[in-house]
This record gives sequence, C-alpha cells and structure tokens, in this order.
Amino acid sequence: MTSRKASLKKYNTFGIDVHALEILSVTSVSDLQRIIKEKHPSELFIIGGGSNMLLTKDIDKYVVHINNKGYHVLDMPSDENEVLLKVAGGENWHDFVLYCIDHNYGGVENLSLIPGNVGTAPIQNIGAYGVELKDVFYECEAVSRKDGTIKIFSRDECNFGYRDSVFKTELKDQYVITSVTFRLTSKKHTITTDYGAIYDTLIAKGITKPNIKDVSDVVVEIRQSKLPDPAKIGNSGSFFKNPVISQAVFSELRKKFPEIPYYPIGSDQIKVPAGWLIEQAGFKGKRYGDAGVHEKQALVLVNYDKATGTEIWELALRIQEEVKARFGLTITPEVNVF
Ligand code: EPU
Repeated sequence: MTSRKASLKKYNTFGIDVHALEILSVTSVSDLQRIIKEKHPSELFIIGGGSNMLLTKDIDKYVVHINNKGYHVLDMPSDENEVLLKVAGGENWHDFVLYCIDHNYGGVENLSLIPGNVGTAPIQNIGAYGVELKDVFYECEAVSRKDGTIKIFSRDECNFGYRDSVFKTELKDQYVITSVTFRLTSKKHTITTDYGAIYDTLIAKGITKPNIKDVSDVVVEIRQSKLPDPAKIGNSGSFFKNPVISQAVFSELRKKFPEIPYYPIGSDQIKVPAGWLIEQAGFKGKRYGDAGVHEKQALVLVNYDKATGTEIWELALRIQEEVKARFGLTITPEVNVF
C-alpha cells in the first residue's frame, strides 16, 4: 500500500503533522528487503510505532512503516519453566504484553502500556517499574539497511544500557529490527514489585500475592494516572533521560538541594530524576500555545493539538537551559529529533 505526499500525523505519537514523499507499509521481511534493494539507504526513513520521535520538518524521503505481525513459540531447550517467543517487529508493544498475560508468559508485565512497537523496543532498551527489555531479551532479527541481508543479534551483541543499545550507537541507522525473541517464564514467575508505587498500589487493593495480571493491571493504572494517553494528547513518553552523575557531583548538588530524589546505580553513580529537576525549574504544567509540559509528570512534553515539532523542540531547549543554569546538569533527550 502506498500513499503520496502522505501526512505523518497518525504515524508519530506526538501527532506532528509533517509530510513524507510516500509511505510504504511493509508486512513481511521480504517486502522490506525488496524496498531496500530498490532504493538508496539515504532515500528511506523507517517508522515503527512512531513513539520515540519528534518530527520538526517534512521528511523528503520514502517512509517505510514496519507493520509485520505474528507470534511463534520456539522450542526451548533445557529449562521447562521458560519459553522462547518470537514476535514480529510490527506488533504493538502493549498488545504483545497482553498476549503474554493471556498465555501466562511472565516477564513483561511491568512494561505494560508502553507506547511503540516490539521491533523498536530494543533500540532504546525500554524500561519501567524496575524492569528493562534486556531482562527478557533473547535475540533479535534485523535487516541491513545497506544491502538487505539478515543478521541475528544476541543479547551481548546488543550492548544494552540505560535507554541505550548498539542500535543507538555504533550501529545507529544501520539495521531494521524485524522480530524480537523473548525469554519468558511459563510456570513460576518472578514478580518484581520493588518499585514503590507498584507495591503501594497492590497493598492498597489488598493484593499480597500478586500474579502477572495483577502487576500488569496496577502498572496500567499507575501509568494512566500520570502519563498522558497519546491517542488523546500527543506525546512521546519521557522526553529526556534521567541524568546519571558521579557520586562526587551528586554530593555537591545535595548540599545545595537536600531534598533531591536519587537512585544509586552500582557503587559510584547516581541517577537523578529529570522530572524533579524540570518541576523545580518551574515548568511542570506550563503551556506555550499548543506545546506544553505535562501537568502530572514534568518529564513528558505534550502537543495539545496543533503544536509544530519546532515549537516542542524550542520548549525542550528552554527547559534544558534552565535545568543547566539551576543545577549545572545537562539533561539529554530520550527521543530522536528529526
Ligand atoms: N518527579 C518529580 N516531578 C515530576 C516527575 C517526577 O518530582 O514531575 C520525581 C519524583 O520524586 C518521583 C521521581 O521523580 O518519585 C521518579 O518519577 P517516576 O516514578 O515517574 O519515574 P521517572 O524517573 O520520572 C522513569 C522512566 C519512565 C518510566 C518510569 C517508571 C526514564 C527517562 N523514564 O521515569 O519511562 O515509566 O521511570 O519506571 O527513565 C518513558 O521512557 O517514556 C517512560 C515513561
């Protein structure tokens, strides 16, 4: 299916109305390989769920919308409590989580309701409520954007970090992930409820021995209570990453701001919530035309209706500057800006 000079508004969760040369919807790996062979890599622009991008201008390229579907259980060698599930890259992430809960496959329940698709989840190693994609990742299949060849990436080869992977660094824009294979539990599940809000909400409901569905339901409830639904208000989830700083820098900062929240990472690094920094800088709930900072979570920038990508980007730069001036910390975008 192709559409000429098509609007990308429906293809990005920020709901930015820019246009592409043409949109090519891809439903199989061979479709994608054919397009890669026909066009030069510089003529193509890949979109999955469109949930991690801010489009500031028209894309004078062929937009390839990855839309392959399907689930396959693979034979799992030794451990009878595990299942290997291969999922097509074009599947919606939350549909995949619900599929797992329906089939009693454990491991992704904490990642409920994250916008985007399965195939783009590894790029930034999506994470929430104490779990990251890398914890359940087995391998992925990817197609080279240069010559259409297929390569399988193991977990080690993906080099996952906090909101980071090889697909954002050394291999940026080199591959399209067409499927992801997950290692999930099939009988005894490891329930992760350390994250304060999950634990408190479960207890408030009188649930002391949660199953994976309970955890998923609670995560959905928490997310809905503070994150805007992209179908109603355009957004891309967390716009910035939480800065990770050294213990020494943090100690100095804490002298000035004793109430600063923080999460130790390993022995010498500290993660500081960017949402707190932005709120302290006075931006929470602020609105400039149709571009704004969400009223319940300052890490999320929103498009109330007709904001342009440039307006949102200007707001992001303003926030970045103010946070730098007040705290001496540089917050960097989590979303890709085009
Ligand atoms: N905070 C504020 N004001 C705000 C927002 C946050 O003061 O407006 C402070 C609070 O102290 C709060 C702390 O920041 O306790 C942490 O907030 P929250 O639990 O909402 O988590 P976060 O660090 O802001 C991260 C992820 C989210 C993920 C949540 C839950 C990043 C960049 N973001 O946000 O991911 O859902 O943890 O695990 O790491 C996303 O990536 O799109 C996303 C939503």
